[in-house]
Amino acid sequence: MKRYLLFGLVLLLMLTGCKKNENQIVMVTEAGFAPYEYYENGEIVGVDIDIAKEIADYLGKELVVKDVAFDSIINEINSGKASFGAAGMSITPERLLEVDFSIEYVVSNQVVMVRDDSDITKDKINGKKIAVQLGSVADSYAEDNYKDSEIVRQKKYLSMVEDLKAKKVDLIIMDNLPAMEIVKENSGLKILDGYLFSDSYGIAVKKGNTELLNDINTVLRRLMDEGKIEEYIINHSE
Ligand code: ARG
Repeated sequence: MKRYLLFGLVLLLMLTGCKKNENQIVMVTEAGFAPYEYYENGEIVGVDIDIAKEIADYLGKELVVKDVAFDSIINEINSGKASFGAAGMSITPERLLEVDFSIEYVVSNQVVMVRDDSDITKDKINGKKIAVQLGSVADSYAEDNYKDSEIVRQKKYLSMVEDLKAKKVDLIIMDNLPAMEIVKENSGLKILDGYLFSDSYGIAVKKGNTELLNDINTVLRRLMDEGKIEEYIINHSE
């Protein structure tokens, strides 16, 4: 009898714990990626948060932003812990097998960051020690293209920057705007001319959640028509 009571109690706790607040919508991101998502005075802000706020407004809900490791974002969406992911996330064929993406809202380039005094060029990367964010498009690109390189996968760009400065790695491959923000904030680093490849960002939802996806696309189209995304980028790049 006692056992059943305990079981019932645990079940009840689980159910109430899972109960979602209908007035809120949860967005998931990895908030170490200025200007798209970063901390300012203990609060997560950035281009993706500005966009997400517009989406929440459109739905008449309050936005909740959840910060996780980048390679956990898809799982957060698919397990229902978050309704959508906005993380400067590139639309790729592999990710499209796991989630649905909105229309693209940013075109980005993947660039190479090195120390100021480095003599590395874009065609001399193979064999060098490369840092990338775990699960990023840079991660798979490095894996496929630089067979002689050691690839150091980190959860946070900040750790990669520390490693680059300390000469524990030779270069970082990452998205151009966030790379520019890092170079602005840290002396002794530079971005090589040109880029390795281009990618486009989309907002991710659970496969088949077309209702939310349509709403997100409506908001994104309006924001792009009004030039708001460029405005957000400028505001968060100062
Ligand atoms: N655009 C790259 C990708 O999708 C990197 C995104 C990293 N975003 C972040 N919030 N940490 O793989």
